[in-house]
Formats: sequence, structure tokens, C-alpha cells
Amino acid sequence: MSAPNKSYDPVMVSTLEPPAIELAVSQALAACHQAHNMAEFEQARSWHTGQRSPLLLARAEIAALPPAARAEAGKRVSAALAQVNEAFAQRESLIHIAHERQVLQAETVDVTLPWDRHPIGARHPLSAIRDRVGDVFVAMGWEIAEGPEVEASWLNFDALNIGSDHPARTESDTLYVDPPQAGLVLRTHTSPVQIRALLDRPLPVYVVCPGRTYRADELDATHTPVFSQVEGLAVDEGLSMGHLKGTLDAFAAAMFGAGLRTRLRPSYFPFTEPSAEVDLQCFACRGRSVGDSTNPCRTCSSEGWIEWGGCGMVNPRVLVAAGVDPQRYSGFAFGMGLERTVMFRHALTDMRLFIDGDVRFAQAMREQV
Ligand code: PHE
Repeated sequence: MSAPNKSYDPVMVSTLEPPAIELAVSQALAACHQAHNMAEFEQARSWHTGQRSPLLLARAEIAALPPAARAEAGKRVSAALAQVNEAFAQRESLIHIAHERQVLQAETVDVTLPWDRHPIGARHPLSAIRDRVGDVFVAMGWEIAEGPEVEASWLNFDALNIGSDHPARTESDTLYVDPPQAGLVLRTHTSPVQIRALLDRPLPVYVVCPGRTYRADELDATHTPVFSQVEGLAVDEGLSMGHLKGTLDAFAAAMFGAGLRTRLRPSYFPFTEPSAEVDLQCFACRGRSVGDSTNPCRTCSSEGWIEWGGCGMVNPRVLVAAGVDPQRYSGFAFGMGLERTVMFRHALTDMRLFIDGDVRFAQAMREQV
């Protein structure tokens, strides 16, 4: 008889017996199928296929078997391991799919749910254009001037050489502030700021004043009782109509893009002499509709030009009213409607948009003014 095999361990090797392997396999498969999430699955897999799992421990015992028994035991353990690994691999992909579906579901945003946030508004296009116009002139070295909307009628009319019998003073044109003896009006234009600027500042003066103005008009597509203007005033030695035209062209280019021309058309304002209307080349047809009856332009009625504002050389009587020596100084001034400026830029046809207060208008115009 041969001596007992010292390295033979009957307890451990019993793990290689078919019933033990089958038990290990069935426990592994059960655990595999009972895992319902990633954590359970990973735990089961490491328990049944990891280094300390019954099947791997059993495989380590193969070397301890008598050589004749090793091949068969090896096959049995390998087949068992292959079966278990295959089961875990299959289950893994299912668990992954389920996991992803669950994450997607948990992170889904229901865009149809009612929301409790306040929608963000937008700056009013008139506020935006006021700033933009201010920037254009500040970049040329001008200053921004301001004046009150409730204005002394002396500044709104008298100092601007508007006679006491001028039709603009009637109640059908001007909104007066009670009591009448107070001599206060809602300013009908931004021109009184010309006088304020000259009284306030040392010469020379280069100012723009964007602001709100009022007239006793009914509200319709082309009139509103409250509207906005930008006033410009330059008073210096040696200023001429040429400086005025150059300034207006630079302003128009900044507002409407280079290439849209301006023209001056003789007109009359009590506070400028000579005076002119400032016309802008029609932004819609650029003059192409003139004389072309096959292609009429609704924007300029096929005139090729649209009126933008008024301008002229400051009347010496205005300089005198503001304490400026007209022998030494001359000046030019202009005033444009800001609603018109926005309307031209965006081909809008109804002024009421500006005062309706519908936030969708401001939102649609956001960043574009
Ligand atoms: N104040 C004039 C108006 O409201 C415009 C204007 C301003 C004209 C400055 C000439 C000079 O129509």
C-alpha cells in the first residue's frame, strides 16, 4: 500500500464533487436572476464568480486531486464556471438596459407641466433706442442733456421764438398743466432742452437729449399723445449748415447703416433759421420705386424719401434768449422722432405698439433696436 497522500485534503476536495458543483451553480444562477439592480447584481457576481467564490475555490483544489481525477474535475468546474459566467453576462446587459431606462425616466423633464416662474420681460425698444442714440453721440464727443417733461411754457415756447399767438400753443395742440397761471405745459418737443443746455453749460455746447414729449393728439396708427424725440444742439464758433449735414449723415449711418442718404428740404421753425426737414432715403425701396409705376412702394408712397425730423441753424434770437452772443457763436439743432426711428429700422407701421404695453412687442424687439 502506498503511504497516504499528505497533500490530499478530503474536506476541501469534496467541493469538487458533482453535487457540490451543481449546488454552487444553482445558487449562482439563482442569485444572478434575483439581482434587480446594479448594486445587487455586482454583489452577486463578485460573490459567485470572484476569487473567493465557491467555484473558484473549488478550481484551486484541482491540483490536490490524484492525477487521474484531475481532468474530469477540471472539465466539470470549467463547464460550471462557463455556465455561471454566461448567465451573469446575459443578466448584465438586461440590468444595464433596465438601469438606463430607469435613469432616463427619473431625469425626464415634463415640458408640458405648468410652471411657476415669472417670464422674463425685455427692455422697451424706446429705452433701448434712447441709449443707442446717446451712445452714437457720446462716441463723437457730445454730451447727454436732460430736461423735465413738465416744462415752463417760457422754455417750451417763448425762449424758442414761438410767438404768443402761435397755433402750437392752443389747447388743441398742447397739454397744459393746472393751474393755467403756473405757466407749465407737458413739453411738446425736446427743444426746450436747447435753452436749458445753453443756460447750464459753458460754451461750446454739443448735446443730445433723448426724451418723452406730449401733444394733444388722438391715438391712432400714426399719432400718439405721448411720443419720444431726440434733440441735438451744437453751439460753437464758426458752425455752418455743412456741419449740420455731416452730423445728420453720421447719425443716419449709425442708425440705418451706411449708404442710406439724407436730404434737407426747406421748411420753417421759429427757433431755427434757415430751417429744413430732414428726409431719409426710403429704407424699403431705396428710391427705386420713384417713377416706376410697376413697382410702387407703400413705405414712401413712391417718393423715394421719408420724413425723419426737423433741423436748422439756431435762430440768433434763441441764442440771445439763452444769453449767447450771436455775433461770436452760431449753432445748429435737430429733432427726430424716436418711434419713427425704430419704425424705420424695423418696417413697423403702427405707433400704438409703443404704448400698448404688450410685453411680446418688447420681447420680439429685444437686442434688435
Ligand atoms: N422741435 C421740432 C419739432 O418738434 C423739431 C426741431 C428740432 C426742428 C430742432 C428744428 C430744430 O418738430
